[in-house]
Amino acid sequence: MSKCCCEIPKETVEAIREIIARHKEQEGALIPVLHEVQEYYGYLPFEIQKIVAEELEIPLTEVYGVVTFYTQFSLNPVGKYKVGVCMGTACYVKGSDKVLEEVEKVLGIKVGETTEDGFFSLEATRCIGACGLAPVITVNDDVYGKIGANEVADILKKYQ
Ligand code: FES
Repeated sequence: MSKCCCEIPKETVEAIREIIARHKEQEGALIPVLHEVQEYYGYLPFEIQKIVAEELEIPLTEVYGVVTFYTQFSLNPVGKYKVGVCMGTACYVKGSDKVLEEVEKVLGIKVGETTEDGFFSLEATRCIGACGLAPVITVNDDVYGKIGANEVADILKKYQ
């Protein structure tokens, strides 16, 4: 039996172990496990990654590598609304850096951070495949295209 992590409540550890057990025999189990664990816990801090590595019997470095490679995984608590500013080439050329600056200003956080009230988190994304609408921002599943920095505050206000 692997060691229990002292900072994560016992019931949470058990729930995470159950998720992992359901996928353990599956080939390429790591990504579905990380998805489900993140859905359950909200994000994937180091202590959670340790449990995943132990239970799947793979190196922690492998888990960390996947969590940090894919933008859908987060090492930090994620806000209720995930704001993504596309920094792909088409959006960048159309001024997404200015849009990002404005989002940072309006929310008072930087990329990778979450507002203190837990409402918004901010990420800079790769191309989301909506280049015709550049520059693009997303708020959870909502997509806003051809936006100017001056529209950012109004868009975010809708979610407050
Ligand atoms: S570059 Fe932003 S949607 Fe493609």
